[in-house]
Amino acid sequence: MAFKHVFIILAIIFPVMVFSTDFMVGDDKGWTINFDYQAWAEGKDFQVGDRLVFKYPVGVHNVFKVNGTGFQSCIVPPLNESLTSGHDTIVLATPGRKWYICGVGKHCAAGGMKLFINVNTDSPAPSPVPSPVRASKDFIVGDNKGWTINFDYQAWAKGKDFRVGDRLVFKYPVGVHNVFKVNGTGFQSCIVPPLNEALTSGHDTIVLATPGRKWYICGVGKHCASAGMKLFINVNTDSPTPSPAPLVPASRKYSIWKH
Ligand SMILES: *[C@@H]1O[C@H](CO)[C@@H](O)[C@H](O)[C@H]1NC(C)=O
Ligand SMILES: *[C@@H]1O[C@H](CO)[C@@H](O)[C@H](O)[C@H]1NC(C)=O
Ligand SMILES: *[C@@H]1O[C@H](CO)[C@@H](O)[C@H](O)[C@H]1NC(C)=O
Repeated sequence: MAFKHVFIILAIIFPVMVFSTDFMVGDDKGWTINFDYQAWAEGKDFQVGDRLVFKYPVGVHNVFKVNGTGFQSCIVPPLNESLTSGHDTIVLATPGRKWYICGVGKHCAAGGMKLFINVNTDSPAPSPVPSPVRASKDFIVGDNKGWTINFDYQAWAKGKDFRVGDRLVFKYPVGVHNVFKVNGTGFQSCIVPPLNEALTSGHDTIVLATPGRKWYICGVGKHCASAGMKLFINVNTDSPTPSPAPLVPASRKYSIWKH
């Protein structure tokens, strides 16, 4: 009986002690203006139980947790919801997407003080599809609204299972909008690439050829910066998340050895 209790206690405590990580947001730069927090977050494996630490001079910045819309449009929540200690520690208690902004002045909108992360669980996330493999799908971006201003594309993307081989279809009146693939920085700051990289057909189909994060914006006028025409998605592979173990079957490895 006592042995069983010890086992249970170890099972609860051990992973927390061993695996939880503190992430210093912005590393030695801390929480500040004109830092690319999307580049900072890229490739980091945030897990439930890890902690984010926001460091900044007290009074100069603050930290708000917001939703996807608040992140996209830099909507500052009521001031009583801010963290202001200059060394704010946030436990990532649940898996999923998390958004944080600075609520001082235009630090979010003009100074890039916004952080988006995705928190993973240690165990593979429960898949909405029973089979890990499925036929490829077309996603009409924005559904019947299409690609347009003042639509919450983050809310649209939320919960969707984009897979390699699926296609995004951007529908809009020709000449009114366009579509650019950008990187995380381009997405965050609405940096429009050279015009010759635009898709302009009004029915632009993009094959999701590789897994990982993808960013799209409209390059017309202020459609991205002021009207929310920006889409961020994460493309999954058909197979479950790659494990640290080699993906090549043992038998196959052996035959490679023999050659
Ligand atoms: C997101 O936050 C905004 C601004 O704070 C709020 O108006 C909106 O209702 C929230 N949306 C959801 C889906 O919670
Ligand atoms: C902030 O203030 C509003 C009302 O002014 C209140 O409804 C809300 O619960 C407060 N939030 C926190 C986190 O204290
Ligand atoms: C992201 O895009 C911007 C603007 O197009 C470019 O200046 C920058 O070098 C790119 N960053 C990376 C990491 O590719």
